Amino acid sequence: MANLRRHQRKFLHRKAGKLKFVRAAIVQFENLSKTYQVGPNVINALRDVSLTISEGEYVSIMGPSGCGKSSMLNVLGCLDRASTGRYLLGGSDVSVMDDDSLSSIRGARLGFIFQSYNLIQQLTVIENIEVPLYYQGRGATESRELAIELATLVGLQARLDHKPFELSGGQQQRVAIARALVNDPLVLLADEPTGNLDSTSGTDILKLFDDLNRQGKTIIMVTHDQNVARHTKRAIRLRDGQVESDGPPA
Ligand SMILES: Nc1ncnc2c1ncn2[C@@H]1O[C@H](COP(=O)(O)OP(=O)(O)OP(=O)(O)O)[C@@H](O)[C@H]1O
Ligand SMILES: [Mg+2]
Repeated sequence: MANLRRHQRKFLHRKAGKLKFVRAAIVQFENLSKTYQVGPNVINALRDVSLTISEGEYVSIMGPSGCGKSSMLNVLGCLDRASTGRYLLGGSDVSVMDDDSLSSIRGARLGFIFQSYNLIQQLTVIENIEVPLYYQGRGATESRELAIELATLVGLQARLDHKPFELSGGQQQRVAIARALVNDPLVLLADEPTGNLDSTSGTDILKLFDDLNRQGKTIIMVTHDQNVARHTKRAIRLRDGQVESDGPPA
């Protein structure tokens, strides 16, 4: 009897130990497909994809041109809807939401980082970072404090009043990262974030992503570059709209 109890305790302990590491699912694709109709032709950009990405993961999406990477990122980012199947983002089924709800989800729960930075040229660093807060109707003082905090986090505290044209490519991408973080998004979605940068600036940006992920931020990044994917912890490789492999990067 005593042995049995000890055995049970061990089992429970192991179970509890496992539970400690269970993380919430942030992204769930269930049999998700995306088709485009071009004239009489139907293009299957994503075909019956099922996958889960959990809180704190750092994921790269890879694969040859035309395999469906941008289509997947567009669906992930609620910029486009799946044709069939379900997409749960943070547990909410976004596949049934209307355009207005999708747009507020994008503003409140997602952070985007693009290859070409997509900053507003007339605005300063600090104003660019504040843009998403403005759309949320947040107070000016609170917004300014948060923007300064994030500018400092990405190492731009000495550049707050600079306009994008007065910054290097790497610095512009840092502004974009701070802007993407300002709403404390569920997930950061990055599309070739180092694609326009020289290798030193690219490495600095990847170090910043590594730090953010270490602090718990969930990151999903499209990249062609094996050396970039190596920074991530999980590589999802697509081929012809399907998941060809899913595991640690090569
Ligand atoms: N808006 C669209 N209308 C019609 N077909 C599209 C559209 N967008 C993408 N496609 C097609 O869907 C397939 C997947 O395209 P997608 O842009 O997702 O590929 P990708 O992996 O991002 O490629 P790349 O590495 O070249 O950016 C391709 O065959 C493409 O031609
Ligand atoms: Mg693409």
